[in-house]
Amino acid sequence: MTRTGRVGIGFIGVGMISDQYLENLTKFPDIEVVRLGDIDTGRAQSQAEKWCVGRWGTADEVLTDEDVEIVINLTLPATHVAVSSAALRAGKHVWSEKPIGVDRETAAGLVALANELGLKLGIAPDTVLGQGWQTAKRAIEAGLIGTPLSAVTSMQYEGPDIFHPNAGFLFAKGGGPLFDIGPYYFTALVHLLGPIASVVATGSKSRETRRLVVGPNAGTEFPVEVPTHLSVLATFEQGGNAQSLLSFDTPLFRQGVFEVNGTEGSIILPDPNTFGGGHPIRVARLLGENATFPIEQPFETLLDEEPAAGRGLGVLDMARAIRSGSSHIATGEVGYHVLDTMVSVEESIERQEFVAVASTVVPPASLPEGFDPFAATLGSVIPV
Ligand SMILES: NC(=O)c1ccc[n+]([C@@H]2O[C@H](COP(=O)([O-])OP(=O)(O)OC[C@H]3O[C@@H](n4cnc5c(N)ncnc54)[C@H](O)[C@@H]3O)[C@@H](O)[C@H]2O)c1
Repeated sequence: MTRTGRVGIGFIGVGMISDQYLENLTKFPDIEVVRLGDIDTGRAQSQAEKWCVGRWGTADEVLTDEDVEIVINLTLPATHVAVSSAALRAGKHVWSEKPIGVDRETAAGLVALANELGLKLGIAPDTVLGQGWQTAKRAIEAGLIGTPLSAVTSMQYEGPDIFHPNAGFLFAKGGGPLFDIGPYYFTALVHLLGPIASVVATGSKSRETRRLVVGPNAGTEFPVEVPTHLSVLATFEQGGNAQSLLSFDTPLFRQGVFEVNGTEGSIILPDPNTFGGGHPIRVARLLGENATFPIEQPFETLLDEEPAAGRGLGVLDMARAIRSGSSHIATGEVGYHVLDTMVSVEESIERQEFVAVASTVVPPASLPEGFDPFAATLGSVIPV
């Protein structure tokens, strides 16, 4: 059956992050949120009532709902592959929160399964599809900073146990700053500089256990299974390198440092854990003979706007691609390459040497200029 009109969405897992998705997806005219599912069906019901979604229930009920075409998997990293695979086997396209999975083998199997079944697999983050990132990406490709040579990124604070009521999974295998926040930074690097060729890294942790700070289980101790402070140096297939600090171990809160240096200029980008905004995208040029001492660096502003929309842009891009038969941007292949990079970082920490990243990926495309999430492009809105 060839479907037309707006694309039906079902959620599996409606915890903390689901509000951000529901806020946007219930407003995009090309999307219809059909059903919410969770192991905790009470939570599915309360989220459905909050966001005026007609149906709710278990994960299985989402998978058997004929009106659901894309399943959004917002479960925890350790179950991402199992839930995404079950959705593909039920004939649904899948959008999964990051990371795609926690090990190479099952994640590669998931990508292969989607291809075999001819279904789309999309992997967060979609922050890079935000207006700020897309503007910067097009500008860099058009030569704004000359040839990109290097990047510097930094994300540091004391960790998500200070705000997440279920923070244990963020310090377990598949968590830590590498797997929880790394996907934003490495995905953005891949979008701007292409596939990663190799990595070398150090990793440490400040303590073996932490305690939940908020929520009904505040005070509960949980183990820290992964490094919580990482310094990563990555090289790129197309040349250039990036150095990245990822830390849940510093009293200093400083996130979203993301700078790319080229032969002609440097660009200061938004936080890759946001869709742009927060601060202007600025460009610094070589001063050469115009330099004065002490050096005063003039900046040009490329964009100074808050993004029109946030989480859910990747689902929308995928929904429109399903109807048009074209490719979407935040693919399973990109998600796998980022996971492969992160596992290679872990291996580098253990082996104390450079590790080649075995996978590669076609440099991701950009959204069409003027991409409007609030346009009804699928002919589904009844004219008034
Ligand atoms: N919280 C954030 O700020 C944030 C931001 C970006 C991405 N994410 C990602 O989103 C995902 C979810 O994070 P969260 O913070 O919402 O977690 P959470 O613990 O608040 O919610 C997870 C939900 O999934 C449900 N669930 C777990 N396994 C399930 C299964 N097999 N079937 C059905 N339901 C299941 C749980 O009952 C819970 O309601 C994670 O992958 C996380 O990395 C979270």
